[in-house]
Amino acid sequence: MNSLTIRRPDDWHVHLRDGAMLRGVAEYTARQFARAIVMPNLSPPVTKAADAAAYRQRIMDALPEGADFNPLMTCYLTDSTDREDLARGHVEGVFTAAKLYPAGATTNSASGVTDVANIYPVLEKMQEIGMVLCVHGEVTDPDIDIFDREAVFIERILGPLLQDMPGLRVVFEHATTAEAVGFVESSGPNVAATITPQHLHINRNAMLVGGIRPHAYCLPVAKREHHRLALRLAATCGSEKFFLGTDSAPHAKEAKESACGCAGIFNAPYALESYVTVFEEEGALDKFEGFASLNGPRFYRLPVNDGTVTLEKAPLDVPAGIEAGESSLVPFHAGQQLGWRIAD
Ligand code: NCD
Ligand code: ZN
Repeated sequence: MNSLTIRRPDDWHVHLRDGAMLRGVAEYTARQFARAIVMPNLSPPVTKAADAAAYRQRIMDALPEGADFNPLMTCYLTDSTDREDLARGHVEGVFTAAKLYPAGATTNSASGVTDVANIYPVLEKMQEIGMVLCVHGEVTDPDIDIFDREAVFIERILGPLLQDMPGLRVVFEHATTAEAVGFVESSGPNVAATITPQHLHINRNAMLVGGIRPHAYCLPVAKREHHRLALRLAATCGSEKFFLGTDSAPHAKEAKESACGCAGIFNAPYALESYVTVFEEEGALDKFEGFASLNGPRFYRLPVNDGTVTLEKAPLDVPAGIEAGESSLVPFHAGQQLGWRIAD
C-alpha cells in the first residue's frame, strides 16, 4: 500500500501551552488534527469555566488564517474544585472533560489533587452527568520507583475508584505499561486509553543508552521493551478502547538540555507520520483509521469529522530543530527519516 486515506483524525491529549509558545506550536496540531483535547496544566492552571473559555479564545487567535480546528477544553482538578462550576461548564460546552493530575506527578501539577478522596463529590457529579475524566495515572509516593508508578496507581487508586464509581467514564491518558493495557481491556466500556507515538517507538533504552538523552524523556517515562510491545498490540489490534493522544508537550531546548530537564516530547509536527509508521510495521494499516479517527469520537460521544487526510509513502526528513515563538524546540524523531508524509 503506497497511500492511506482516513477520515480526519483528532488528538485526544495535547499541550498547546500559552503566549509565544502557543502561537509557535498551535499550527502543527491544527495542520494534522480537526480537534484536540487541550490539557489545562498552564501556570496558573485552568480550573474555572471562564478561564477555559478565555484560553480557548487565545488558542483560536493563535491559529493560522483559515485553520479548521476545534480545541476541546479540560478542567484541571484540584482539591477545591467547584463542582457546580465544573458541571455547568460541561453542560454549556466549555469543558469537554476534566483532568486529574496527582499533585507533583508531572509538569505544572503542583496544584493537582493530593488525595483522590478529596474530590469524590466532584467525581460523583461527573459520573452522574457522564463527563469524561482524563487521568494522569501515576502515584507520587517517593518510595515508589518511577518505573512502577503507573502500575501502582492502577492498583491503589484507579481500581478502587472504579469499584466505588463503576459508571465513571475514564480515559487512562498516555498508557505506558502492559498493566495499563490489561486494566483497560478488562474494564467496562466506560474505560479507555490514549497512547502516544513515543511510547510506541521507544523503550527506556532510548533515554539512557550511550549517554542521557533528554529529548526522549517524558512522563510517564518510557518503560521496558515488553511494555512497548503490549502498547503496539493494543493500538493496532482493532480494539475500540485505544485511541490517539500525542501528549505533545513542547519545552524550550535549553529547558530540556539541563541538569534538571523538563519532561515532555514535542511530537505534534509529524505525529501522524510517526503513528502510521508503527501501524505499517505491525501490518495493521487497516486499523489506523479506527485508532486515529473513530475510536476517540465514539468514546467522547462526538461525531466523527467530515473530510479525509491522505498519507503517502515517501521519505520525510525530520528537522533537528523547529523555531516556535522565542524558543527552539527539538521535535520527536529529530534528524531521522520517516517513511510517510501527509499528501497535499
Ligand atoms: C507534560 C507537560 O510537559 O506538560 N509532560 C510530559 O512529559 N508528558 C505533562 C504530562 O502530560 O505529564
Ligand atoms: Zn500530557
